[in-house]
Amino acid sequence: MSRRNFLPILILFVIGYSQLCTGQNNVKISVEPSDNAPIISKHIYGHFAEHLGRCIYEGFYVGDSSAIPNSAGVRLDIIDALKELQIPNLRWPGGCFADTYHWMDGIGDLEKRPTIVNTWWGGVTEDNSFGTHNFLNLCEELGAEPYLSGNVGSGGVQELADWVQYTNYKGKSPMSDLKRENGREEPWTVKYWGIGNEAWGCGGNMRPEYYADIYKKYATFMSDADVEGGIYKIASGASNDDYNWTEVLMKNIPKNMLQGVALHHYSVIDWKAKGPDVNFDEETYFKTMKESWLMEELIVKHTAIMDKYDEDKKVDLIVDEWGGWYEVAEDSNPGFLYQQNTMRDAMIAGMNLNIFNNHADRVKMANLAQAVNVLQAVILTEEEKMILTPTYHVMNMYKVHQDATLIPLSFDSPMYKFEDESLPSLTVSASKDETEKVHISFTNIDTKNANSVSIDLNELGLKNMTGSILSSANLQDHNTFENPNAIVPKGFTNFKFKKGLLEVEVPPFSVLVLEGTK
Ligand code: AHR
Repeated sequence: MSRRNFLPILILFVIGYSQLCTGQNNVKISVEPSDNAPIISKHIYGHFAEHLGRCIYEGFYVGDSSAIPNSAGVRLDIIDALKELQIPNLRWPGGCFADTYHWMDGIGDLEKRPTIVNTWWGGVTEDNSFGTHNFLNLCEELGAEPYLSGNVGSGGVQELADWVQYTNYKGKSPMSDLKRENGREEPWTVKYWGIGNEAWGCGGNMRPEYYADIYKKYATFMSDADVEGGIYKIASGASNDDYNWTEVLMKNIPKNMLQGVALHHYSVIDWKAKGPDVNFDEETYFKTMKESWLMEELIVKHTAIMDKYDEDKKVDLIVDEWGGWYEVAEDSNPGFLYQQNTMRDAMIAGMNLNIFNNHADRVKMANLAQAVNVLQAVILTEEEKMILTPTYHVMNMYKVHQDATLIPLSFDSPMYKFEDESLPSLTVSASKDETEKVHISFTNIDTKNANSVSIDLNELGLKNMTGSILSSANLQDHNTFENPNAIVPKGFTNFKFKKGLLEVEVPPFSVLVLEGTK
């Protein structure tokens, strides 16, 4: 081989060898021109609380006679943690439970409330002690908008119409009088209403054509009175890639009756073998990330269908259930869906929130499933103890994007390779808030390789940069009741920011948020 032929091979070898040694990929990110970039709705950072396992009872609600400090029966430590997170909304009472729930069972004299069986979740007795007043007062205390899921599966049109009147009507009416008798003078003014949940499954096993008709019937009788701009009605949406579901709803429901169409997608590797919550191997992790990445494709494809019928983007895409779903934690009730929350969950959260931010033109709300003790929870409790999970910390780091203007970015992500498959390893989103602060969030799902990122931020006129990072030694690491602060965000300085050029290394399986100021 001549010297001339040998040189390029040598260079390639040196580059390849150095990458192997450092475990580092180089990525160049460009800031795209953006005259009409969307606002990232704060509601993308929403949560979900169902009467399921220990989410409400033994989670949020311990009752006002509990020794655990509480406000009207709701744990104060949970209230404080959710206030810190600035949760913008809370969806309740389900999920599947919503289509078995009769709201009138949960109002009035506690002693006289009927019990029901929670058929979906563990077959336990529901005593209806936590009802409409408890939930809506809690939302007020949190400063969060309530999102009520109406019962379409087993409830009637009048029942849902009455619930709207009970919560919202200012004047004199049978329902607003009843609310006053139950101790509440002013209406709560609930804007967000779901018309059924998973109508294709636990909500009634309906065809989309049939559900679209049912939707119109329910929506017709839900009054807009006393809510500025009218109530915001959300249709029970598709499961994953059921594009026909979205198509039929968009085609058959008039736009003036429909403000949002839902989508549910869980990062679950196999419904029959969901894999452990903590002791998972890299293959399981990779499969979870693959499922998590599907969110991008689902949003793109459901959006394309919505665009066909609604090019002005009047109807929003509402991802009102998302998150990781594994086998329940060892020794816990299979019907209660309690699982631990590891760095894998931090990766799901960081990636999905970046995806939602980057699709802020159509995705206007998302609700992580679920807030406390269920699935990808931000909070776990054990009697009087409470811990914040890695997912909590990611949501707390990302809250800076709430209601900020998206800064579109473009880049080719390096790939995270596992055996003969690969996935993009890096998701990033950026925004500028009202005070002109710029935030950039990075999530690197690669287990071994750091991403060495460079971004020219000159056009944003920033002078200073600070950062925080969530990372840990192992993917399986998590917080426990004995060691609640094993994983918490830390200050991050491993970047250079000179003359508007940012160079930053995003370590393997880490979530990083940078803040740039002028
Ligand atoms: O979040 C748990 C369950 O998952 C919900 O009740 C249901 O809507 C979905 O299938």
